[in-house]
Amino acid sequence: MTQQWWKSSVIYQIYPKSFKASGDTPTGDLQGIISKLDYLQKLGVDVLWLTPVYTSPQRDNGYDISDYYSIDPSYGTMADMQELLAQAHSRGLKVIMDIVVNHTSTEHQWFQEALRDRNSPFYDYYIWKDGVNGNPPTNWLSKFGGNSWQFAPETGQHYLHLFDVTQADLNWENRQLRNEIYSMMRWWLDLGVDGFRLDVINLISKEQTFLDDTLDTATADGRKYYTDGPKIHDYLKEMSREVFSRKTGIITVGEMSSTSIANCIRYTNPAEHELDMVFSFHHLKVDYADGNKWSIMHYDFLQLKKIISDWQLQMQDGDGWNALFWSNHDQPRALSRFGDDKNYPYQSATMLATALHCMRGTPYIYQGEEIGMTNPQFSNLEDYRDVESINAYNLMSSEWGYSHTQAMEILAQKSRDNARTPMQWDDSQHAGFTNGTPWIKAADNYQQINVASALADSNSIFYYYQSLIQLRKKYQIIADGEIRFYQLKHSQLLVYSRHIQSEILLVVCNFSAENCELELSSLDLALTQAPKVMLSNDSNNMITQEVVQLAPFGCMVIHSI
Ligand code: NOJ
Repeated sequence: MTQQWWKSSVIYQIYPKSFKASGDTPTGDLQGIISKLDYLQKLGVDVLWLTPVYTSPQRDNGYDISDYYSIDPSYGTMADMQELLAQAHSRGLKVIMDIVVNHTSTEHQWFQEALRDRNSPFYDYYIWKDGVNGNPPTNWLSKFGGNSWQFAPETGQHYLHLFDVTQADLNWENRQLRNEIYSMMRWWLDLGVDGFRLDVINLISKEQTFLDDTLDTATADGRKYYTDGPKIHDYLKEMSREVFSRKTGIITVGEMSSTSIANCIRYTNPAEHELDMVFSFHHLKVDYADGNKWSIMHYDFLQLKKIISDWQLQMQDGDGWNALFWSNHDQPRALSRFGDDKNYPYQSATMLATALHCMRGTPYIYQGEEIGMTNPQFSNLEDYRDVESINAYNLMSSEWGYSHTQAMEILAQKSRDNARTPMQWDDSQHAGFTNGTPWIKAADNYQQINVASALADSNSIFYYYQSLIQLRKKYQIIADGEIRFYQLKHSQLLVYSRHIQSEILLVVCNFSAENCELELSSLDLALTQAPKVMLSNDSNNMITQEVVQLAPFGCMVIHSI
């Protein structure tokens, strides 16, 4: 195994709560995942990332951990976890855990001890400040709405919570806290996990001045005081020394909120010894009107291309490495957002996959993406479960004066629950997800869009993904080639190439519902006389010596040696 084996790997994200229930429970569980490992192996992915399965009050679906060392009973037991690791490993699949160390649940014993006794050593594990003239210590906003400080009458001070009020931020300035975290992470490595996805890890180092922000734009909400903060690189280097260096063959991916390319180069350049790769989110804000997520806007394609090409090229120049993704449990379904899930579901899903998987970085597939799952278009507020979405609805209706219909339209496009509906396994009730009643409704289209029918159709999105995953393993140029972009002002096409010496891979993707042509002479690329079509998603896509012609949402991958 080479040191950077993950450059030719594909990672599959499992949201356990919605993946598969082994019996009649409302939520998925670890045994449910075990029962689907053969399916994941057939797809061909290399690594599974599980979102948090630790004990948690589930206020933020597990991102509010109350015990890092145990499995939430709704998911099973530690024995189930060990079985999952063994069963995955026996199929050549690695498993990474989601580590949430920016905050814990307020039900965590550390926080409870802090509440009980201000003199306990655990008090300083969290960030406590006095209010100012009856106001919170600063005006920073929580990512889930409202001020980010909560007064605790038990202690007479406010604690910081950048997310929900039940998610108290940890004080990384405290050395003992850091040691506790590192030893907990080593414990998981010893149990057999193969690495970590680190939740909002670039928020752990707070500027110690605790000043107000201006609040005059959507992003002037305090984030400049804690995003990529003053000691973040020191902490990651320390974590790498104390944890990651203890085991070979592992993988680490950091979730970076509102970050910069310069910081991400430092996070991932191997010489820095911090992380292997990073998720960044700028490309998923191209449909936020004036930076506001809770708005309706058709995404800006030119901006999307600019962000993608800037990140790709600058990370390449700085020897950094991107985690590539369109979807996760916090984002609406990419097919509904960037494609046409009604008229061109197959073409849009496969085009989006191609655009992503052939870039420089490690691609991630979010559960259900490989069968073309869509946003569910919930029409009742009661169908939503997500704390952020419900807070947003309240904000939109009570503070912004939006009508119920307007707020519901926005949720239908932007809610995180769009990605959290049950995985669609077959056309039986509740999409075969559970024999009981699911914790969140399945999308109505599960009778058409499901794993069973995808597996039965050799022309399905599933099999296209399977080919795409194999290509990354087979062709070094996809894993390692240099990337270049073209036609950044073209209103329909994303065009890029990959290079190893004179070998070229050309990727042309049509992001529109219209036919589209690309003159090859415009690219200044020395393709051979008869380049080979490595992949194409529509029988009407064509290539001649002069042009590439693409059907709506068509794409082609062209190989020239
Ligand atoms: C990012 C996670 O992906 C999201 O689901 C969670 O709510 C926040 N971090 C807080 O942990």
